[in-house]
Amino acid sequence: MKISVIGCGYLGAVHAASMVELGHEVVGIDVDQPKVEALQQATPPFYEPGFEALLGRALASGRLRFSTDVRDAAGSIVHFLCVGTPQKRGEYAADMRYVEAAVESLVQVLAPGDLVVGKSTVPVGTAARLAELVTGKVPGAMLAWNPEFLREGYAVADTLHPDRLVYGLPADPEGETARALLDEVYAPIVSAGTPQVITDYATAEMVKTAANSFLATKISFINAMAELCEATGADVKQLADAIGHDDRIGRKFLNAGLGFGGGCLPKDIRAFMARAGELGADQALTFLREVDNINMRRRIRMVELAREVCDGSLLGKRVAVLGAAFKPESDDIRDSPALNVAAQLQLQGAVVLVTDPAALDNSRREWPHLDFAETPEEAADRADAVLLLTEWPQYLELDPVAFGRVVRKKRVLDGRNALSRTTWEGAGWTYRALGRRGT
Ligand code: UDX
Repeated sequence: MKISVIGCGYLGAVHAASMVELGHEVVGIDVDQPKVEALQQATPPFYEPGFEALLGRALASGRLRFSTDVRDAAGSIVHFLCVGTPQKRGEYAADMRYVEAAVESLVQVLAPGDLVVGKSTVPVGTAARLAELVTGKVPGAMLAWNPEFLREGYAVADTLHPDRLVYGLPADPEGETARALLDEVYAPIVSAGTPQVITDYATAEMVKTAANSFLATKISFINAMAELCEATGADVKQLADAIGHDDRIGRKFLNAGLGFGGGCLPKDIRAFMARAGELGADQALTFLREVDNINMRRRIRMVELAREVCDGSLLGKRVAVLGAAFKPESDDIRDSPALNVAAQLQLQGAVVLVTDPAALDNSRREWPHLDFAETPEEAADRADAVLLLTEWPQYLELDPVAFGRVVRKKRVLDGRNALSRTTWEGAGWTYRALGRRGT
């Protein structure tokens, strides 16, 4: 099938190459010329494990190309909308200008029978509005909403082997046609027995925001427990293990620490609250404000903990920050808790050196006032404290004995509850973590 993908960020670029892997012929469209050129030359413009190989294979097949010209989407039958919906500056609501622009330009090239498929995370009600626009401009064209649940770091696997397919469809007979087209696009995924939820636009849109709100709530729940553990001397990691054994609760997303960041969870819960307000249902989501507050408090607590271990003052103290990305296996620094903490430490007078295996280029560009180091050893040179803020596997494998020779004071703050406490303490380090007793 001939497919276009509008927007080639983390979501769209991976989606475009994955659709080629499924056997289709794909054109990826993006307004960002350097990004399009990089993709066309098989160079991923971002770090995502497995993507470079997938992109290389897709381009070599001759069935993938990239363009800045939306007219190249003409002739495709299915058009995926994969543009971003960031938070509006100074507001909770989502900035819909990229979605609007994408649809406005797409309708110029659509033909009757074409299907526009929204994958971006949007405020509930958007699909119905866009469907009117599409069918108004191009009678016979259709729109479906098919939210994407991929996690950065696992984007390729999540796209090729999703745990469910959600189709928000118009009423029949268009709904039936749209469903058949989507089933054809995802044929190998459908025949693998992947659960499908066939529903209306509003439910499909809400599935995504509800899922992300649930995940954010789960993280903030355990982080609220961490606050209590700090007040009582209990251990949040053992608490999470113990409640996680109950399979109604489950252990996943119960890792207490610095909390959530990234381009999705924070802005999605805020946009969800804003939309609920517009719909007159804001009370239903006031708990998300608390979820957000708990999450942001963890960053403040981390800075306090650093000050505590640095004998009550950060002034002139050398602090190593391991990790800049909002999570491991990603170079994404959008709303990164690690960089937020690093900046606060610096503001309080500490000499901060940040390192990261993948996100240094992005960090240097977006946070030019911070100082960076290429390796953990360089970052920790004569450090008074080492903070693990993003749990990259290579940091978890550091040898605390050898690493201890680099620093001035063997103090480690585990912002992700990811290091082996006994190993680090065994090597003579003072170990502190959010939600756990000091020694
Ligand atoms: C998320 C959703 O998981 C995905 O389904 C959706 O499509 C997009 O948003 P992503 O932003 O890639 O994906 O990251 P995710 O793995 O969900 O982690 C989000 C944040 O939560 C990270 O900052 C991570 O460090 C943090 N987190 C995660 C915790 O603090 N504790 C946990 O137990 C899990």
